[in-house]
Amino acid sequence: MFIDIHSHILPGIDDGSRDIEQTLEMIKIAAVDGITAIAATPHVISGIYDNKKEEIRSALQELNKRIENENIPLLILPGAEVRLEPDLPQRHLRGELMTLNDTGRYLLLELPSAYVPDYTTRVMYELQLQGITPVLAHPERNASINKDPGLLLELSARGILMQLNTGSITGLFGSEVKKTALKLLKQGSVHVIGSDAHSAQGRRIPIISPAYEQIKKMCGAETAEILSYVNPSRIISGDSIITVNPQKRFTLWG
Ligand SMILES: [Fe+2]
Repeated sequence: MFIDIHSHILPGIDDGSRDIEQTLEMIKIAAVDGITAIAATPHVISGIYDNKKEEIRSALQELNKRIENENIPLLILPGAEVRLEPDLPQRHLRGELMTLNDTGRYLLLELPSAYVPDYTTRVMYELQLQGITPVLAHPERNASINKDPGLLLELSARGILMQLNTGSITGLFGSEVKKTALKLLKQGSVHVIGSDAHSAQGRRIPIISPAYEQIKKMCGAETAEILSYVNPSRIISGDSIITVNPQKRFTLWG
């Protein structure tokens, strides 16, 4: 059983699912894979995908009605993948940011893919002061972090949680990304995994089990369970997560 906290499953509001038919196909793939709940996390990028909280909520309501009609045993929850921008603390104060499952605690954040902006630590720190725990989406796919994982260790030391993509772990995004992903897993620097699904075909489909199996082989069943089910379920409940450190001791974090 898995919970997926990163998915572009809402139809027609970002570069993910193009229509309701594709969304339903994605949901069926996820259900067969053993996923019982999915946080819908459409991109929120100023001027490109200005997905407002209310728009995400109403798209979700419509989708959940449809799922109920189709009798699929899977729950879709609210969320967003918010691009790191300098004014996020102000936007959060105005109540504009959609946290994972709308609990007000965990915010899925993405960096631009090619670099780490110089305001990254300031924005994250200010959000933390407002009670947010940032969850950094797929750091292994960022070019700067890939070259210099020290950047990630600094963010990690500041209490930022790391979400790895399942496809990065299984090698769908090339050997460099896979190498970084496996290194982070071995170091115990990963807190949660997610599919980052964008469609029902190709590399970014909503499945967790192949990555789960790989983590189980590398780090043991307990770690695989924590990253694919225990922590995702704590995140959507707004509870503190469990972190796995390199010595394989488990501590509370977040
Ligand atoms: Fe994403």
